[in-house]
Amino acid sequence: MGAAPAGARDPESAAAAVREMFTSIAPRYDLLNHVLSFNIDRLWWWRAARRFEAILKRPEARVLDLCCGTGDMAFALRRRAGSGAPQILGADFSHAMLQRASAKAEKGSGPTLSWIEADALRLPFPDGHFNLVTSAFGFRNLADYDAGLREIARVLAPGGECGILDFGEPGGLLGQCYRVYFKKVLPAVGTVISGVRGPYAYLPASVERFPSPDEMLGRMHQSGFREVSWTPYTFGIAGLYRGVKHA
Ligand SMILES: C[S@@+](CC[C@H](N)C(=O)[O-])C[C@H]1O[C@@H](n2cnc3c(N)ncnc32)[C@H](O)[C@@H]1O
Repeated sequence: MGAAPAGARDPESAAAAVREMFTSIAPRYDLLNHVLSFNIDRLWWWRAARRFEAILKRPEARVLDLCCGTGDMAFALRRRAGSGAPQILGADFSHAMLQRASAKAEKGSGPTLSWIEADALRLPFPDGHFNLVTSAFGFRNLADYDAGLREIARVLAPGGECGILDFGEPGGLLGQCYRVYFKKVLPAVGTVISGVRGPYAYLPASVERFPSPDEMLGRMHQSGFREVSWTPYTFGIAGLYRGVKHA
């Protein structure tokens, strides 16, 4: 089970469509993120980074931000780490997104971040290399969720932690109002500002397709994580999955 953009026939074509989609919206990605989320995205990255403060304060720690896009999760991790920042690496398979991340990093202050072009399902790192792997709004786009979780578990050291921040589907009356916004308003505004038809209709469809928190926690457990939890953010519009790799 994984992302399936319109027209994708198998995991390879799904991954190619996802990469093409993000490459096409890269120039307007940050603007759209902030406009469409009313800037709440900044709060979500900040909260997710705060959750891993204990690891980020360890100068010898190795941190990987997967599907880093234009880098905002990685920047939030660096800010939380402070002056004794560990090694933080952002990985993405869209060159255009990484170019933006790298340009933004040059303007920012603090310890250096590194960027690498890589597929989250085939990471070029040895087993047990990282102490923390995060992914913000990227994991949902993987063509195979279980393979993604297994690859995260593989590159984590025993006792290392995983944090997956992604959209959810809030319930109740708020959920009903939010769905009108998310399925009708957001795709229309996103299409106008990005100038690209498709990606912003794919977003609500991909969230609908994504496993529920209970199912996702079960999949994390089966992939080798313990102490798995899901913390809803902003009434469940987003939420953080956390797990610890079996020692
Ligand atoms: C919605 S963006 C999120 C970017 C960033 N993490 C943020 O919070 O704004 C999703 C990113 O995941 C990347 N991505 C999707 N599938 C990937 C894969 N299999 N390997 C590497 N990157 C992937 C896309 O290229 C895109 O940059």
